[in-house]
Amino acid sequence: MKLSHETLLTLLEESSSNRINSNFYNLKENEEGYLDPLKMANLYINSALLVTIMGFLKEQLWLKNEEDKKLNKKTSYEDFLTPFFLNELAPVSFLKKFLIDSGSEKINQIKRSSKDIESQVLSLIIERSNSDQKIFAIKSLDEMTKKFIHEEKNQEGRAQSLGHKGLCLYRTFDNLDDLFDLNYELDKEMVVDYSAKERLYERAGVGVQSGYSTILLALDRLEAKEGSTIIDLGSGYGRVGLVCSLLRPDIKFIGYEYVPHRVEVANNASKALKLQQNLNFKVQDLSLKSFKIPEADIYYLYDPFTKETYVHVLNQLIAMSKNRVVTIVTKGNGRSWLIEISKENSWPDPIIIDEGNLCIFKSE
Ligand SMILES: C[S@@+](CC[C@H](N)C(=O)[O-])C[C@H]1O[C@@H](n2cnc3c(N)ncnc32)[C@H](O)[C@@H]1O
Repeated sequence: MKLSHETLLTLLEESSSNRINSNFYNLKENEEGYLDPLKMANLYINSALLVTIMGFLKEQLWLKNEEDKKLNKKTSYEDFLTPFFLNELAPVSFLKKFLIDSGSEKINQIKRSSKDIESQVLSLIIERSNSDQKIFAIKSLDEMTKKFIHEEKNQEGRAQSLGHKGLCLYRTFDNLDDLFDLNYELDKEMVVDYSAKERLYERAGVGVQSGYSTILLALDRLEAKEGSTIIDLGSGYGRVGLVCSLLRPDIKFIGYEYVPHRVEVANNASKALKLQQNLNFKVQDLSLKSFKIPEADIYYLYDPFTKETYVHVLNQLIAMSKNRVVTIVTKGNGRSWLIEISKENSWPDPIIIDEGNLCIFKSE
């Protein structure tokens, strides 16, 4: 059992006496005043995961109880939990005994304690040096990748057999945004010039971002060559670039975005983590005919444009694909545009992942 697992369990067990704050700080002292950012990342991942897991188990237990009532039987909590540990909960098998021993009546409490632990780890790491934050972020993203890949494989099996969705980690790690200080509140003050006719997702906040699962699954499947350039067309608050640059510091990443405050937030995060050598965001209206999109190996588009802007942007990418191999990643509606283009230009079939949300097109 890794220390972080023991740590999580110790914190959860002791939290039942509502002394989680003091326990947490004692833990720091026990480790000579310094909690390793790698261990903090494990603790963050496991506690965030547990928040989602407990919500999921609560829902499933309710369903099981309803089924039991109809069949006039009583399933023990252990029998209820065991099948989940063979499937979606297999990566957190260290929790099995703890959850069984806690009993179903502790579900809500474990969820609350896990939330506390998660937010405390994040508050602690935000106080640390940039290099510790970077170590924490990279380790967290690596662990998240493993969890999302496991989930993706698990869902494939489920789609064919059970027909229900199982555990969904989609928003589980969104609080990692706190580390990047992605202040979505700024969207609330947005004043939109409707005559500009662009699709700016005013006041959309976190909803304007690709989920961590989408970005990490894309990065995993892209297998970008060393030294590649990626351009995010409509980069929002910069989550895609931040994740790519942290995990692949060899990649040069540029994000173009219409809304200035989003660009500012993204560049601040890039600077804070000392990524700005390879990660930059620029204010740019991509519908302007005067602007030419620079050449890159990979373009990322998550539903950014109106029809006219799509045509203008994609025409440039098609022209580019005549001289070099271009990879285009689409999330959401962009897919239908690209399917047409890839057929017209005889590109191979796209890779489709993230339950059909994400398509990777390649121009050869
Ligand atoms: C759905 S968000 C995607 C953000 C980011 N790419 C991601 O996936 O996390 C689309 C972004 O495109 C931007 N956008 C829309 N029209 C644009 C234009 N003409 N030029 C530049 N950016 C634009 C919007 O302001 C919005 O932030």
